[in-house]
Amino acid sequence: MTEYNKRFADKHVIVTGGGSGIGRGIAHRFASEGARVVIADINREGGDLVLAELKRNGAEAAFIPVDVTSESSIKDLVNSAVERYGPVHVAVSNAGVSELEASALEISAEEWDTVYAVNTKGSFLFCRACATAMIENDVKGAIVTISSIMGRAAKNMSGAYASSKAAVIAFTKSLAKAVAPMGIRVNNVAPGLVMTNLYKDVEKQMMMDADSFVPWLIDQSIQSGQLLIPRQGTPEDMAAAVAFLASDEASYITAQCLCVDGGIDWT
Ligand SMILES: NC(=O)c1ccc[n+]([C@@H]2O[C@H](COP(=O)([O-])OP(=O)(O)OC[C@H]3O[C@@H](n4cnc5c(N)ncnc54)[C@H](O)[C@@H]3O)[C@@H](O)[C@H]2O)c1
Repeated sequence: MTEYNKRFADKHVIVTGGGSGIGRGIAHRFASEGARVVIADINREGGDLVLAELKRNGAEAAFIPVDVTSESSIKDLVNSAVERYGPVHVAVSNAGVSELEASALEISAEEWDTVYAVNTKGSFLFCRACATAMIENDVKGAIVTISSIMGRAAKNMSGAYASSKAAVIAFTKSLAKAVAPMGIRVNNVAPGLVMTNLYKDVEKQMMMDADSFVPWLIDQSIQSGQLLIPRQGTPEDMAAAVAFLASDEASYITAQCLCVDGGIDWT
């Protein structure tokens, strides 16, 4: 991984969903900038793998298992992280799931609940716990949530996912207002299309080869003139935006949603 300036030297950063995809990229980025990184994920195998990568690169890092849908699990995560690395300076709420491709007419109530439990309630529980820990320790920290371009321009077949991500954007702004008096900033990154495990089930559902769905969507978006930068996004593209928003370079930025999506226009 590339060496960057050490903007986060000695800072304590927690990344949910850090065991895969975009979260893995975010964990690497903060570690490369000198942070002590806690990878928090429900997937122990992924978490252990990313931890091993960070350690090989000489980073100070830990993996703490968490289920972001559970308030007690989040509480245990934040307590263990603080015990290990001291006050939290940066919290990245990245864990997320997507439903199978289903329109608002087709999606089941159970699938709706699952998507909302992770994406929306999970983000709320994690961000609130970290904000509370920052306030208790008088840390003027930064929180970054991850939504999606779908949260700004829903597609037909993303009934629950799109609205769960729109809720994350609104919650981000709401939390930013609540914690601004304590000097804490809260922003959101809305990724465009990045090939990750998020699409594995969709590929199966659409009977596509592994890793085909995102390139197919990218091609369609390029051909229809909806994508201005003609490639898919990478975890590194997203991580660069998250690190910027979490850094002192963004000290006058809060309650914002930054789209990192190649200028895609699905509206
Ligand atoms: N990949 C894309 O194109 C894309 C686009 C827009 C937004 N996003 C968002 O980016 C974020 C990261 O997704 P990704 O693409 O890297 O997918 P991913 O599937 O590779 O990573 C998601 C991670 O979240 C973890 N997770 C899921 N449920 C959890 C739970 N209950 N508790 C703790 N961890 C849990 C998973 O184990 C996984 O490691 C998600 O919020 C996703 O919605 C992704």
